[in-house]
Amino acid sequence: MATTLITNIRQLLGTHHSNELRRGKDLAVLPATDHAYLLIEDGLIADFGNMADMPIEEEEANAAYDATDQFVLPAWCDSHTHLVFAASREEEFVDKLKGLSYAEIAARGGGILNSAQKIAAASESQLFHGARMRLQELMMLGTGAIEIKSGYGLSTENELKMLRVIKRLKEISPIPIRATFLGAHTYPLAFRDDHEGYIRQIIEDMLPVIAAEQLADYIDVFCETGFFSPEETERICRAGMEYGLRPKIHVNQLNSIGGIETGIDLGALSMDHLETMTPEDIALISGQQATTAGNIYKGIGTLLPTAAFFLRMPYQPARALIDAGAAIALASDFNPGSSPSGNMNWVVALSCIQMKMLPEEAINAATINGAYAMDLEEETGSIAKGKRANLIFTKPIPSLAYIPYAFGSNLIDRVMISGDWI
Ligand code: NIG
Ligand code: FE
Repeated sequence: MATTLITNIRQLLGTHHSNELRRGKDLAVLPATDHAYLLIEDGLIADFGNMADMPIEEEEANAAYDATDQFVLPAWCDSHTHLVFAASREEEFVDKLKGLSYAEIAARGGGILNSAQKIAAASESQLFHGARMRLQELMMLGTGAIEIKSGYGLSTENELKMLRVIKRLKEISPIPIRATFLGAHTYPLAFRDDHEGYIRQIIEDMLPVIAAEQLADYIDVFCETGFFSPEETERICRAGMEYGLRPKIHVNQLNSIGGIETGIDLGALSMDHLETMTPEDIALISGQQATTAGNIYKGIGTLLPTAAFFLRMPYQPARALIDAGAAIALASDFNPGSSPSGNMNWVVALSCIQMKMLPEEAINAATINGAYAMDLEEETGSIAKGKRANLIFTKPIPSLAYIPYAFGSNLIDRVMISGDWI
């Protein structure tokens, strides 16, 4: 058995006693142990506590590390990304600087369709190597679990290609990866006036292969004006659910069109984006109000502040959601169009600076609740016996609040994944 003993940790954060989803006021509770030790056995957290209670001496462990002056926290759990893509889109970024809107760029065949063209032209191994490099960069930035979506394929061949890339990433990645099928990201050009035709392709051609090859864990739909209606979202998600894929859906990014109600009735694990929320949407997603069908939401609202930042949209109403009792997760939405960064440190900082989340709330939302939004709460997302030793070690910093406060500094000294330094 390989043992690593970490000693003299200034503060060990996220020592939650249970893996429950944190909602409302509980989101601000981030348990911590001062002057702590942490014992790792075969990549898993075996024990932790105050230095005074350390069960073994440094010499008895295979490896020891002195974390004097360092904060140690669970690695980030990024539950919403589009990590597999063929090319960046900075030319659209410049078009936007010159005045074009996201919708105008999409209407010109830019946006998602631009990425789809590039995916079609790329080989599986090109996509794999690009995504693998990005994944490596994110791990260095403290990401210890990640969800990755398809959605730039938009044809049976290319959606499957993307999902096979994600499956290969799962096989080689030291961090847990969840795959989400997002065939319903937009309508491909050929089906712009034939929604029925494309939805049938998703349901009849793509889903059976995805299920047979076990290529996805979840199903996603971009429920939005000009993309997929709530009715179309429901139909596609129900078809995915027949194959055991639980919905995690894009809702209320640009418009409030009933996607929240649909997601609740579908039992979605998470509903993501939420830039545009009516008071009723907030009451629904917080579980304060039942849908017309009588369902109360138990799942997660995932906020993607870097997408709002990059698109210069109003930020998600984090305070109103938390005050209403919602369970909030934070994720990067890493993609070439609306959030060309997967840096979760920046997501956490932005959620405090622009959405007034407390540092404790942001860290819980980016760790334990993010893990929950990928069904990984038994495996990661907090400091608990038996969980993976996926950990962030900070540089010497004055306090926890310094993490979001000093947003421009790299405060990570080192990252450990399953007991190994990366
Ligand atoms: O989550 N909103 C939908 N999809 C992505 C953006 C896709 C793109 O522009 O490539 C998002 O923000
Ligand atoms: Fe997204």
